[in-house]
Parts: sequence; C-alpha cells; structure tokens
Amino acid sequence: MIKIVYVGFGIVSQGLAEIILDVNAVLPISKGTEIQTVGILDTMKGCKIDANGINMQEILNNAHKGDYSLLSERIVDITKAIEEIKADIIIEASFTDIKTGQPAIAHMEAALNSGKHVVTTNKGPFAVAYQQIFNLAKKNNKTLAIEGTVMSGTPIINVLNTGLVGAKITELSGIMNGTSNYILTQMELGMSYEKALLQAQELGYAEANPKNDVEGLDTLAKVLILANVVFNTPLAHEDIAVQGISKITLSEIKEASSKGMRWKLIGRVWKDSQHKVHGTVGPIMVPTSDSLYGISGASNALKITSDILGDTTIIGAGAGKTETGFALYNDIISIMNT
Ligand SMILES: NC(=O)c1ccc[n+]([C@@H]2O[C@H](COP(=O)([O-])OP(=O)(O)OC[C@H]3O[C@@H](n4cnc5c(N)ncnc54)[C@H](OP(=O)(O)O)[C@@H]3O)[C@@H](O)[C@H]2O)c1
Repeated sequence: MIKIVYVGFGIVSQGLAEIILDVNAVLPISKGTEIQTVGILDTMKGCKIDANGINMQEILNNAHKGDYSLLSERIVDITKAIEEIKADIIIEASFTDIKTGQPAIAHMEAALNSGKHVVTTNKGPFAVAYQQIFNLAKKNNKTLAIEGTVMSGTPIINVLNTGLVGAKITELSGIMNGTSNYILTQMELGMSYEKALLQAQELGYAEANPKNDVEGLDTLAKVLILANVVFNTPLAHEDIAVQGISKITLSEIKEASSKGMRWKLIGRVWKDSQHKVHGTVGPIMVPTSDSLYGISGASNALKITSDILGDTTIIGAGAGKTETGFALYNDIISIMNT
C-alpha cells in the first residue's frame, strides 16, 4: 500500500483521485498496489488528515457538487503539515507561480527533507529552481517526478529521459500552450482575437487571467524546464526573448495563409555549434512541410531533433483534468514499480 497526500485539491488532483478510484477498484490489494489517500491540504477548499485513509469516493461525490465541507480541518501552515504527515508521496498540484516558484518550492523541499517522494504538475518551481530541487531529491534519495509539467499526460519528460537515451538531441521546438493555439486556429477561420480568447475561456482552456497563456509565459516555463531536462542547462527568464500572440492581427493570419503558412506560438530550445544553449518563445510562420503546421485547436506538439532519428514529433493533449491527472498517476506507478 502506498500512502499519498494531495497539496492543492483542484482540477488536476481530482482528476488523479478519479483515476485512482477506478484503478483501485480493479487491482487486487494483495498485490500491494493500492493507493491510499491520507491527506488533503488545500488553502482554499480546506484540509483533512486521516492516517487510516480518507474515503475519496465521498470527497469526490461532494466535490462534484462544489461541496468541500468534509475538508473541515483548518491547517494554516501547509508546509509544516507536509513535513509532519506520515506518507510516501506528496502530490504537489497547488498554485503555479512562474516567477518565484513559490509556495510549491517550499512544499517540495518540506516533502523531500522529510523523506517523501514528490510527484507534481506544477511547472513554476522547475522554471526557476530545477537543479536546486532535483539536487535536494538526490541528497535525500527520493524521487521527484515531473511528467505533467510539460504537455500534461502526453509523455514528454519520460521520453526524453529514457526513450531517447543515446540519441544526441540538438533542438526541441513545439506548440506547448493549448489556449494560444486554439486562438490562432479560430483566427484562421476568421474569428477576431478577442472572440477567440473569450471562447477559449468559456471552453475552460484559458485561465480567467489568460496573460500567462497568450503572452508566452506558460510556454517560457516549459522551455526553461526542457533546457534542464535535455541539456542540463539552467537558463534564466532574462536569457530568453519572449513574445506572445496578442499582437497578431487577422490580416497577418490571412497573409500567412495565402503563402501556405500558419502562425504558431513556438517555444524553442537548442544547442549551437559552440555547445551554448539558447531558448526563445514567439510566434513563427510555419510551412506545410513542418510537422507543427497541422496541430490545431487546443492540441500540443513537441518536435525533437536528434542526430540519429532526425525529427520525432509527439502530439497530444496539453491540459485537462483526466489528461493531467494521468501524468501524476503514471509517475506514482513508476515510483511503486522501483
Ligand atoms: N489544469 C490543467 O490542465 C493543468 C495542466 C498542466 C499543469 N497544471 C498545473 O497543475 C497544478 C494544479 O492545477 P489545477 O488546474 O488543478 O489548479 P486549481 O484547480 O486552481 O487547483 C489548485 C488548488 O490548490 C490550491 N492552492 C493554492 N495555493 C495553495 C497552497 N499554498 N497550499 C495548498 N493549496 C493551495 C488552490 O486554491 P485557490 O483556489 O485558493 O488558489 C486550488 O484549490 C497547477 O500548478 C497547474 O499549473 C494544470
């Protein structure tokens, strides 16, 4: 049995909780595969700790009705609670701050220093302190798993870390923000930027404050993470020129289309011939021959260029409750299997 604690119990954590309930129902407990929730720590929705296991079916049934009254314990110091709770894995799925990485960095440090593995979808900490947190995990001999930080449940980090081992990767470029891609796709159909953004918000792709999506900051965080994963190089925000899509006009979209091209918000990271690592985020016109040309709507795609395979493009979901919950689930299972 593996004991987990949710830090942040929003969309993604609930997605994971649903997957676990489905799977625990079919996996034989005798095989030691049961995942038991012993804590939920959320500043907004409330907290609950139970060393004997929380009834997650009940919590989710209520959550679906917007009722979090069962999370009735008031815990002010979440970081201290992470330290003190007896558990195997902390699921960090709280608020993302791309500039400071907090409070998630403190949550992860508390978990690792108190002997717990960390599984997370929160990109903030890894955009600013990737090496620091991974070094801490190593020092404590604990696993830090971050598959869901780039393209949610679509396997990217694990592919880069294992599937492409031995290939010399020279460049990564991709569409890593579904909101921007959705807006650009709708603009190709003639919709104004404002209306497309509104639609993206209504469909739940964009956040209420969509600045991180449309101004390229969300893509920047992913570029910073990929620079670490692939090139072991911590770039700083200031090292990377960032431009979003908010200034692209309908006439520019039409002009690209008349040339057989499409505007895409592309995050890029590459190593030059002097082995220096660079990153950029900005709108680029891509031709039909590019594997990123056909990526439409809220889909994401990452093109990985390596010496042996040439271009390998991975296409899939970049967000979503179940999709991102699955990234966490996948990382938990990997920990259980080691
Ligand atoms: N949704 C996706 O598709 C997706 C995809 C990839 C990655 N992610 C990342 O995954 C994480 C979770 O996303 P989500 O969509 O589940 O967000 P969410 O629905 O906003 O849930 C996050 C929850 O954590 C709470 N929280 C905020 N600060 C906290 C703290 N200091 N301690 C404990 N709880 C705290 C939030 O409360 P408040 O409401 O008060 O802030 C909220 O209830 C984020 O870092 C996000 O960037 C999400």
